[in-house]
Amino acid sequence: DAIKVFCPATIANVSCGFDVLGLALDAVGDEMIVRKTPEKGIKITKITGQDLPTAINKNVAGVAGLTLLDKSDYDGGFEIEIDKRIKPGSGIGSSAASSAGVVWAMNHLLGNPFSNLELVQFAMEGEKLASDVAHADNVAPAIFGGFTLVRSYDPLDIISIPTPAELYATVIHPQIEIKTSESRKILKTNITLEKGIRQWGNLGGLVAGLFQNDYELIGRSLEDHIVEPIRSILIPEFDAIKNNSLEAGALGCGISGSGPSIFTLCKGEDMAKNVAQTMHKTYEPVGIDYDIHISKVN
Ligand code: HSE
Repeated sequence: DAIKVFCPATIANVSCGFDVLGLALDAVGDEMIVRKTPEKGIKITKITGQDLPTAINKNVAGVAGLTLLDKSDYDGGFEIEIDKRIKPGSGIGSSAASSAGVVWAMNHLLGNPFSNLELVQFAMEGEKLASDVAHADNVAPAIFGGFTLVRSYDPLDIISIPTPAELYATVIHPQIEIKTSESRKILKTNITLEKGIRQWGNLGGLVAGLFQNDYELIGRSLEDHIVEPIRSILIPEFDAIKNNSLEAGALGCGISGSGPSIFTLCKGEDMAKNVAQTMHKTYEPVGIDYDIHISKVN
């Protein structure tokens, strides 16, 4: 009556898909143990790795878990232990990993009464607590795996997109914290038609590239003329990382979620290793702590 789950880190937006596109990483994530208990309600018994609140209504896992429990006819409860390896405010879906992991684990222990789409809806309540907005572009790939598209928020419609076999991501995380809620406030709420046209052209191109295993098309679709120019100002050496990574062979490069992490997509592990090397060389002289991960997109 207990399960240990891996809760993957995720890259939201993927340049051209602000709030609608996301992908799951297979090498970076939290671990969580969820146990059924006869007592009603949810208890977070232990959090290691990060200093986070265990109070149910202040923890995204607690909020997401309670949302599921409310909809369920199960009359017991759950205990949760979280080994938090993804730093909050890093831009790779820390809150989503906790929110998605807990509802996936609870659903499994209850015999899977809920669909993945319903699990995304429950996990979005955790995202709402973390960033004031119930965005689904991190929790959807965390639950479905691979690439997902939020085709619509109302009604919620999530599309799984196939991942080409050799697609890798590198992620560099400069150790500064950017709160999603803050980095949303600086965005403009209106865009020009011209920018819209470029963005949906790229989004269609990226989705087509993923379906057709066309790495070149994936690469040239990884553009963002709306959000990146505004948010990249908050990220040390963003332009240098981007230019050097593209020169080293990356298919494309952009801000991971709301930053400060920067991601690239690469064809094959060797290219990803090259790009990671270049990222090291770019950041070492800067004097900011950082870490770099290479992960398959899965
Ligand atoms: N789409 C969200 C944003 C993702 O960019 O604000 C946050 O992880």
